[in-house]
Amino acid sequence: MSRQIFRTKPLGMLLEEAKGENRLRRVLGPVQLTALGVGAIIGAGIFVATGAAAHNQAGPALMLSYCFAGMTCVFAALCYAEFASMVPVAGSAYTYAYATLGEMFAWIIGWDLVLEYAVGSATVANGWSSFFQTLLPRVGIHLPEAISRAPIVYDATAGEFVRTNGIVNLPAVVITTIVTAILVKGIQESASFNALMVGVKLAAVLFVILVGAFYINPDNWVPFAPYGWGGVTVFGHTVWGETVGGNPVGMMAGAAIIFFAYIGFDSVSTHAEEAKNPSRDVPIGIVASLLICTVLYIAVVAVLTGMVKYNKIDTGAGVSVAFTSVGLVWADAIIATAGVAGITSVLLVMMLSGPRVFLAMSRDGMVPPSFFGAVHPKFRTPYKTTILIGAAVAIMTGFLPIDALLQMTNIGTLFAFVVVCTAVLIMRRTNPDAHRPFRCPMVPLLPILGILSCLLLMFSLPTANWIRLIGWLLIGLVIYFLYSRRHAVMGRHLAHEVGAHGVSPRGQAVGDPDAPPDSPDRPVDSRVDKDR
Ligand code: ALA
Repeated sequence: MSRQIFRTKPLGMLLEEAKGENRLRRVLGPVQLTALGVGAIIGAGIFVATGAAAHNQAGPALMLSYCFAGMTCVFAALCYAEFASMVPVAGSAYTYAYATLGEMFAWIIGWDLVLEYAVGSATVANGWSSFFQTLLPRVGIHLPEAISRAPIVYDATAGEFVRTNGIVNLPAVVITTIVTAILVKGIQESASFNALMVGVKLAAVLFVILVGAFYINPDNWVPFAPYGWGGVTVFGHTVWGETVGGNPVGMMAGAAIIFFAYIGFDSVSTHAEEAKNPSRDVPIGIVASLLICTVLYIAVVAVLTGMVKYNKIDTGAGVSVAFTSVGLVWADAIIATAGVAGITSVLLVMMLSGPRVFLAMSRDGMVPPSFFGAVHPKFRTPYKTTILIGAAVAIMTGFLPIDALLQMTNIGTLFAFVVVCTAVLIMRRTNPDAHRPFRCPMVPLLPILGILSCLLLMFSLPTANWIRLIGWLLIGLVIYFLYSRRHAVMGRHLAHEVGAHGVSPRGQAVGDPDAPPDSPDRPVDSRVDKDR
């Protein structure tokens, strides 16, 4: 059995499958790829999470938190880029794990990615709702509290959840429903729409930086790191820095929270197949989009913490309140309008991704293809999973607090990054000669730095997130052993071939990895391993 769960999908098989898929035209150059990255990255994170993180975790040192999180993403991004150029097929980290770490890890990472995309979408929808609600009063609409927020919020200082007067975050549920409907109908990713969204978002961020710069008071940057530099705990034991309400605080803890603002860059690597020159343009696109965002993000934090003392920053709408507090009431409207438009595009991309991962898994037999692989007869979209995930996102965004959703997204994404960095190291050993249009530089150093920095960020999140992640992965393991292990297409392929040759003696499970070395079942595995 152990050999089965570590059975990998041969690179040759992946490439064969890729040939069968519709080939995409190589039309994207470095500028378009960078724009795609910026479009997928800048969303709710910078405007929604920054104020709270500066107030609760890092103070002005949040500028360095953004540096650390950005650097971690560059490490992971270069590993993504190597895989994406090698195996340009759908499924992202799930596919990479199947090629290197084996079936069970692939399942786990696919399961983790679905969580990441679903919970991430719920977070983004929640952020969208915050912006939308700042616009409503301007047109004379005042939502009752009961339908404007989730019934519970997280009190970071006390380290506990507290009841609110809200019942449901209705705007968040509504936008999720609309986006789900759009995705069921199908959207063509349009370069001009993306360019417009990127323009709107960049304009909003530049506006904050350029106008806000005039209101900076450098005294507000002192003390620079009021909570210290650390914030690393291992299951409740503080390893570096301090805790407040049982949760880590400090520059690292801030980095673990605002890491959310960088999520999305991996969408550049998924366009490797469309790049004119993938070995050059994909890494340029990834690194350039991350660098641009890092510079902008640091500048926003510098402005925000310079305009308002860190402990006076509004934790709900830090940037907007900073501008209204200096009398720029109109600025708030500009930021909110750009926010609503810009965040919608991020939500579309995120909600598009979960069903695609399920689709890739269903093709491998990891989840029932009749449901997860079902494509709408008219719209040609994976409509059943889109609706299923849409419903889950609507429930989460309507009733759960944004902090818990955001942290859960982060730990799930960081876990996926660790797997991808590890997978690059393994693939270099198992398939040293495979064609790699793009090679991650400085291997093994860079992937190892990626793994370590991701783990550091994971341990800088409150421990509750580890418990939730482990719980989710355990549920995934149960499903794997009850369903996926028996239904995996690779296993059935092998069984079929061996059966056809009449070589399944002793009634032993076909392709049984536990079979003795001279068993006729062994060549099956060797054949699979041939490409490794
Ligand atoms: N990076 C994306 C955002 O901040 C997920 O909304």
